[in-house]
Amino acid sequence: MSDSISLIRNTFSNNFSTEMLRNMGKAAEIIDGKKIAGEIKKELKRDIDKWMENNNNRAPSLVAILVGEDPASKKYVQFKMQAAKEVGITSSTIKLDSSVTENELLDLINKLNKDDKCDGILVQLPVPDHVSERRLCNAVDPKKDVDGFHINNIGKLCSNVDTFVPCTALAVIELLKRSKIETFGKNVVVCGRSKNVGLPMAMLLHSDYRNELPGMEATVTMCHRNTPPDELMYFTKRADIIVSATGVVNLIKADMVKPGACVIDVGITRIPTEDGKSKIVGDVDFEGVEKIAGHITPVPGGVGPMTVAMLMKNTFQAAKGLKAVIQ
Ligand code: GUN
Repeated sequence: MSDSISLIRNTFSNNFSTEMLRNMGKAAEIIDGKKIAGEIKKELKRDIDKWMENNNNRAPSLVAILVGEDPASKKYVQFKMQAAKEVGITSSTIKLDSSVTENELLDLINKLNKDDKCDGILVQLPVPDHVSERRLCNAVDPKKDVDGFHINNIGKLCSNVDTFVPCTALAVIELLKRSKIETFGKNVVVCGRSKNVGLPMAMLLHSDYRNELPGMEATVTMCHRNTPPDELMYFTKRADIIVSATGVVNLIKADMVKPGACVIDVGITRIPTEDGKSKIVGDVDFEGVEKIAGHITPVPGGVGPMTVAMLMKNTFQAAKGLKAVIQ
């Protein structure tokens, strides 16, 4: 061990490994979600072309239902349609006024459930307050549920049964795998407990290799809005991996991160800038944390593009009549 490393270890803590201490002072490796998503889409295009050629299949198809005029939702759906085009998935968006009733939406979903030319259905969230998000998600045929939001699919995931898994959770797992971040026996903190992101994330990360899920084998701690700040810091400082999905800007700061840890930022918040415009930021104080972490995802360009790529993978699986995309 070098003198400087043993000095730091003696000064600070004996809990830091030599590898972590070597990492101190070095900028973290940036996990480029946009680039990895590009690679996945290329692989997918090749697989879809082959599947269509070999089996004389029509292209997989995806239908998005977009209710109202929320600019962020419109943008996300546009990204999804663009990605579908890139990989050879036929896609369409059904745009509806925010005054549409819940029954009208349920009728539309039923029609799409019965349509043999539609493989995957997604209802872009959020929906207006007069409509129940849960009832809509549960109306989608679980076999066409490419978002993995149907209660049967959530239940299967929580029972270690292979099924459609929400795309953001899949995106994080794929980023960890492709960046060769070890999860076996590691401490992971998931910040945020939403049913669409935090919960599926935690389920996958602690999954047992003896079941159908991918066997990530981590020790997972879930923190949320009622975790006191000093307790949050207690857990994050011991975490080998932090996944933050809260929408709280600057929640994760440098002094909360163990040297060399992998920090995955799922947050997406639009904030005003000094020039009167706006920009997208995540949950992590990127400038501070990148000096401490071993790996970090940027916002934008990290988890976001990967989530869209995983939606394309789920849609291809739906077209093939199979379930999960986890390898
Ligand atoms: N709104 C924000 N994220 C998502 C998502 O992953 N799927 C859908 N359907 N709506 C969203």
